[in-house]
Amino acid sequence: MADYETSAHDVLVVGAGGAGLRAAIEAAASGARVGLVCKSLLGKAHTVMAEGGVAAALANVDERDNWRVHFADTMRGGQYMNNWRMAELHAREAPDRVRELEAWGAVFDRTPDGRILQRNFGGHKYPRLAHVGDRTGLEMIRTLQDHAIHLGIDIHMECTVVTLLKDGDRIAGAFAYDRDRGRFKVFASRAVVLATGGIGRAYDITSNSWEYTGDGQSLAYRAGAALQDMEFVQFHPTGMVWPPSVKGILVTEGVRGEGGILVNRDGRRFMFDDIPENYRSQTADNEEEGWQYVMGDKNARRPPELLTRDHVARCIMREVREGRGSPHGGVFLDISWIKSRIRNAPEHIRKKLPSMYHQFKQLADIDITAEPMEVGPTTHYMMGGIRVDGDTQMSTLPGLFAAGESAAGLHGANRLGGNSLSDLLVFGKRAGEHAAMFAADSPAVRVTADDVESAAAASLEPFERAMIEQSTEGPYQVQYALQEMMQELVGIVRREEEMRRALDGIATLRARAARVGVTGNREYNPGWHTALDLRNLLTVAEAITRSALERKESRGGHFRDDFPEKNPVYADFNIVVTRGTSGDMTVSRVQIPPMRRDLTEIVEENK
Ligand code: FUM
Repeated sequence: MADYETSAHDVLVVGAGGAGLRAAIEAAASGARVGLVCKSLLGKAHTVMAEGGVAAALANVDERDNWRVHFADTMRGGQYMNNWRMAELHAREAPDRVRELEAWGAVFDRTPDGRILQRNFGGHKYPRLAHVGDRTGLEMIRTLQDHAIHLGIDIHMECTVVTLLKDGDRIAGAFAYDRDRGRFKVFASRAVVLATGGIGRAYDITSNSWEYTGDGQSLAYRAGAALQDMEFVQFHPTGMVWPPSVKGILVTEGVRGEGGILVNRDGRRFMFDDIPENYRSQTADNEEEGWQYVMGDKNARRPPELLTRDHVARCIMREVREGRGSPHGGVFLDISWIKSRIRNAPEHIRKKLPSMYHQFKQLADIDITAEPMEVGPTTHYMMGGIRVDGDTQMSTLPGLFAAGESAAGLHGANRLGGNSLSDLLVFGKRAGEHAAMFAADSPAVRVTADDVESAAAASLEPFERAMIEQSTEGPYQVQYALQEMMQELVGIVRREEEMRRALDGIATLRARAARVGVTGNREYNPGWHTALDLRNLLTVAEAITRSALERKESRGGHFRDDFPEKNPVYADFNIVVTRGTSGDMTVSRVQIPPMRRDLTEIVEENK
């Protein structure tokens, strides 16, 4: 018999980044008994990697901004693959969520007349990102955490969920282990909110830290919920490329928002070379106009460095591939050039971008006020994820909700920077509210001893394999092999033949993962934790690859060398992944419902 602790909740929130915290706050405020599980320590979440700001049409810097323009920008950025209802709710509700955060104690940078300051970011027509220097996500987490701990939420830190529990066709809770002692925990819960973030660790170069192994997406899929848009992975254009130990760490888009330019080995500002047709009217074609825009000239057009992330990442790859890259396989991002335009530039840069200044000084011995940075694309964000209802955030499995990066829909084929922070506030709140309502209307759940026993036995298998010497290798070799393969074969530029090889590779790695053994005991054993994460990584890797094969076109974050153009045939449906009855992954095309007429008009008005 497995030994485990049990606790009961109305709502269990898995993940304590911005979305999870906001969901837990809302559910607790409505009277639900809430449990909050986080894989790491409270406060350590990828939310902090959204550095440059939270997007909300507050119109503090440009009075022409409003939710309608934000909605239209988000849809255009997402190449109209977005769940338009989510894009509407997000644009309408983001300003209130930001003001609420301020009322809870978040200290944003200010305009001269004391309102929340907003900065430029790629794909946003007006300066829209409320920010705290380049530490916005950190300030948000701090505020949400301070607020949450006064609400009587039951917090379980360093606790990893390995499987969801069900009662018939509805959710009944989760089975987990604590990292510290390796003890099992059973959470019985009428509703579960997954807010576990992204999948970055399925790739070799990523801004994501070790926790982001696609847990929520994989847990939901295995429990029977649908995933969608898994082909749309965002490669942020600017991660560090040197030294090797810091490869992939994020260099905020805020650098470009403050006037940073991208240049190749020859000193050429290559972003002027390829401005997409649908952004041409909004994009400057010369240095002077771009600079005027950065300086707040409302009649100027934005510099090409602020085109959408998918496009900027591909332009960088082109420069590297064609031999015009920097010494370590990236390009140069230069903010120091603004010294030719403003007085006190070094002081200005240190004030606007304090984290970037310290990051480069300490990790690369580069003074960004005096010399350019070397940057290249890094796996940053998953636009796809758990398929949810736009209003309630409930997945296709009753009682299972998802919010933030683990949920799909809002961002379509490509997310605009800053929309992730507003996403997690808007939809974290909605998920918490609706999960609490669902729990209040539901009878108690029943967790069976058989389900718990089999989850415990499966979790302990890696130890047993090592004892009976069946295992051939440890978990890290399998993890590294998967990361390298995904980077090479299902990365920024994709091809049919390579993705087919990736599918074969995933099958081989799955067989290897089933033989992985770990030694030692259950107390703080990272090898064991990695062995258990492998299943999630392999599931999301397969979902990404199968979805990317199905979409025979290029759109947003999904670029296919063999189908380099958009194809209208693929414009109207999401690619949805479910677990078939035999356990195989099933891929299907699901029609996107036609957009409401008033919203279509907004899109047209803003074209
Ligand atoms: O570049 C950044 O600061 C990242 C922001 C985001 O991903 O939203």
